[in-house]
Amino acid sequence: VLAEDGERALQYGPPFAPLQATIARLMQSRGADVSPDQVFLVTGAQQGLHVAARLLMDFDSAAVVDEFVFTGVRQAFGGPDRTLVEVKWDPTHGLDSRSFESAVSAAPTPRAAVVIPEFHNPLGASLSEDARRAVLDAASRAGVPIIEDDPYGLLSFDRPPRAPLLAAAPDRVLYLGSFSKIIAPSLRLGWIVAPEALIDRLRVLKESVDLECSAFTQRTTALYMEEFGLESHLVRVRAEYRIRRDAMLAALEADMPTGTRFSRPEGGMFVWVELPEGLDTLRLLAEAVKVGVAFVPGGAFASGPSPRTMRLNFSNADPGTIAEGIGRLGQLVAGQPLPS
Ligand SMILES: Cc1ncc(COP(=O)(O)O)c(C=O)c1O
Repeated sequence: VLAEDGERALQYGPPFAPLQATIARLMQSRGADVSPDQVFLVTGAQQGLHVAARLLMDFDSAAVVDEFVFTGVRQAFGGPDRTLVEVKWDPTHGLDSRSFESAVSAAPTPRAAVVIPEFHNPLGASLSEDARRAVLDAASRAGVPIIEDDPYGLLSFDRPPRAPLLAAAPDRVLYLGSFSKIIAPSLRLGWIVAPEALIDRLRVLKESVDLECSAFTQRTTALYMEEFGLESHLVRVRAEYRIRRDAMLAALEADMPTGTRFSRPEGGMFVWVELPEGLDTLRLLAEAVKVGVAFVPGGAFASGPSPRTMRLNFSNADPGTIAEGIGRLGQLVAGQPLPS
């Protein structure tokens, strides 16, 4: 990039059109009819969440979020005078449709419903076909825009990636994508797909945060995909992550005490674990770290305590390390004193 286009790569500049075109093709390959002009580049999906919240919310508005959700969603849509209306999780359907319906119908009408339809962070769950339909129908009836936060949708191990919700409701969905989980988080590059009429307003909001995305990483990312192909990279990543997911599920099966429940994600990076009654993952974490094992206690993703839950990551360690780590965790859990 520096040799061929160094002068522009090191300057301020408009969005890199070839990257917008590549992203539009990527979205089309998943069944969403997206034009390059609808692709708004952001400095990671987190900035996408922030900009979407700035676009849709006032200081005292309400938004719909999952009861357990990536903390960045709460940070972007929450605030001292804002209300986050929570949707209950359902292990079979990914979310409880009735709970979603009543959340979007709350008064005052929420300004947005944030949905992570595929390989949820932290739950590992994906929405069933029924839940997808229910979300689209309920949001449309209530007149609430959907923020589709989808950094993991392409990391599908057991089936082809699904069409995003955007494909079914392009006027009602702001879609957020990211290169963080499919190439590298340090690129700090993601995208919003929005109706063209909103792009100018998004641009003004983003300019107030960081002017624009790095011209250099936009070009390196586009060149990487042109030279090596994103799909061949994804084929390798999915195959490796699938092995790691399987190693983690097998180890959980073998090493965790009876009464432990865990999600079986079809992709992504995370397994959600619920330990037997009486255990406390916050207390467990302090012990686990001493034996070289780390996880995120479930309460970190919730508005209240959730002492029995934790999120495990399987993408960042090899299968042998995963088996060893879960083995140590299992021993610790088995030895944990239960509160009297
Ligand atoms: C659900 C979800 N949304 C958004 C993000 C932010 O991603 P990015 O690195 O693209 O800012 C993450 C990162 O973990 C995530 O899990």
